[in-house]
Amino acid sequence: MQTVSDKLRLLKEKNAHVNLGGGVQRLEAQHKAGKMTAHERLHLLYDNGFYDELFRFVQHHSTSFGMAGRDLPADGVVTGLGAIRGRLVYTSSQDFTVMGGSVGLKHAWKICEMMSMALKAGAPYVAINDSGGARIQEGVDSLQGYGRIFYFNTLLSGVVPQISVIAGPCAGGAAYSPALMDFIVMVKGTGQMFIAGPEVIKEATGETITAEELGGAYAQAAQSGNVHFIARDDADAIEIVQNLLSYLPNNNTEDPPFHGTGDLTMIEDEGLNKIVPDDPRDPYNMMDILLSVFDPGTIFEVHSHYAKNMIVCFARMNGRVVGVVANQPAEKFGAIDIDASDKASRFIRFCNAFNIPLISFVDVPGFLPGVEQEFGGIIRHGAKMLFSFSAATVPKISVVIRKAYGGAYLAMCAKALGADRVAAWPTAEIAVMGAEGAVNVLYRNEIKTASDPRGRRRELIDEYTLQFSNPYQAAAQGMVDAVIEPMKTRSYISVALESLRTKRDHRPQKKHGLIPL
Ligand code: HXC
Repeated sequence: MQTVSDKLRLLKEKNAHVNLGGGVQRLEAQHKAGKMTAHERLHLLYDNGFYDELFRFVQHHSTSFGMAGRDLPADGVVTGLGAIRGRLVYTSSQDFTVMGGSVGLKHAWKICEMMSMALKAGAPYVAINDSGGARIQEGVDSLQGYGRIFYFNTLLSGVVPQISVIAGPCAGGAAYSPALMDFIVMVKGTGQMFIAGPEVIKEATGETITAEELGGAYAQAAQSGNVHFIARDDADAIEIVQNLLSYLPNNNTEDPPFHGTGDLTMIEDEGLNKIVPDDPRDPYNMMDILLSVFDPGTIFEVHSHYAKNMIVCFARMNGRVVGVVANQPAEKFGAIDIDASDKASRFIRFCNAFNIPLISFVDVPGFLPGVEQEFGGIIRHGAKMLFSFSAATVPKISVVIRKAYGGAYLAMCAKALGADRVAAWPTAEIAVMGAEGAVNVLYRNEIKTASDPRGRRRELIDEYTLQFSNPYQAAAQGMVDAVIEPMKTRSYISVALESLRTKRDHRPQKKHGLIPL
């Protein structure tokens, strides 16, 4: 008969066995590769290293291709829950030391259970990926498992925040789970994702490229825009996740965490009055304005390597979280192109889903002209911005800094798209198009037949600029609430946000809108 102490000893042995994952050698190999183990990553992620591991004794039941009786501790994925800065978060962390972290039916089942629990608890879900993909021996069972993961990613979408960390391989169809989540953090050097690797590409198209060039962190952040944050190493990735979570509510029925004191004392930065150059063609760095306007040290930029002509970031204003969408005149003169439209639209929709007020800073000469842009579908992509801002019901505040021309001005959340407050700096130029373009269309014949065409053109541009390139026409129509001194921007936004805290914007019931995809 087994005594109680026998049973306790057995539990200890089983726990020790699972803790070893794929064994000492493979754990050492993991470290040698510059990676933490699945448990070490969770230990760092959770407050005081404490997390509650669930399903640690789950085993696969496969009997195909030599799988029968094969011992795979925790079936290659550590799943659990715990507190991150005091708030409940569910996780899964793939264990590469156990059969390359490959995904079998039970491995996938564990991940889905975590997502299901996160959904019921209304708590964020974080997935740490480090896996060779579908467990080849388990065949279609593995595919079924992936299908269920995608299904649950979709169920959670817009209900609880989902963050993916790619800290190892994540190739083929496996990449679609991170792609279905809200944010992707990828570790430089070890994280990799692509649908088809370099060998397959070489065979299919003859192109030669290394795995890092194709699927490494920089490529996926700057080229494809799949990755939102690049981490130096595993520890940095975990810190990024912790910081990101500090801006997000637990779920779509809650507000983001408030980190303020309620003190509304305003600092006015006179430097803002001098930031816009006299020559409207000269660039400046929009980030300087954002850094001056929002609470010090709270700008948290998302997608910073992608479509740099559009800035999207979280920030705090008197401790309240806001989502900022801003043109960057220092890149492509701030024009909106396909990538910038996609980047902004995705961020706007995330903020709206999770009750984060939106603030836009406008300095946009228009949508980027070009055959490549037209054939690439700038009309469809640009429409995503119009759709996302129009559909957003959170407080929406816009500040027009300088250029605000045509459809691009509307796309940055003009009054017509439901902006609750629109302020303009005296340097704002709100018009259908820039003075030079307008004069070319309106006075082509007059300029051609003038005794001094260049001089006449200059005169007409100056006349047009005086009459139209200012905020007062728009203000006279009520499309701008206030023309403010730049140094008053912080207090304007702050008061507007407070007054919009009780905003209600009910729309007719529908299954979902049809955003142009
Ligand atoms: C079963 C796998 C595996 C997999 C790795 N392993 N991937 N076992 N199924 N998919 C095992 C290896 O056999 C090895 O076992 C151990 O994990 C470590 O792998 P190594 O190859 O030694 O590691 P490394 O050199 O670091 O290379 C990592 C790797 C490579 C680049 C990920 O393992 C690899 O190419 N794996 C196969 C990737 C793949 O083709 N996956 C299927 C994609 S299809 P031992 O016992 O020797 O230590 C797919 C479809 C999903 O994912 C569709 C969803 C919709």
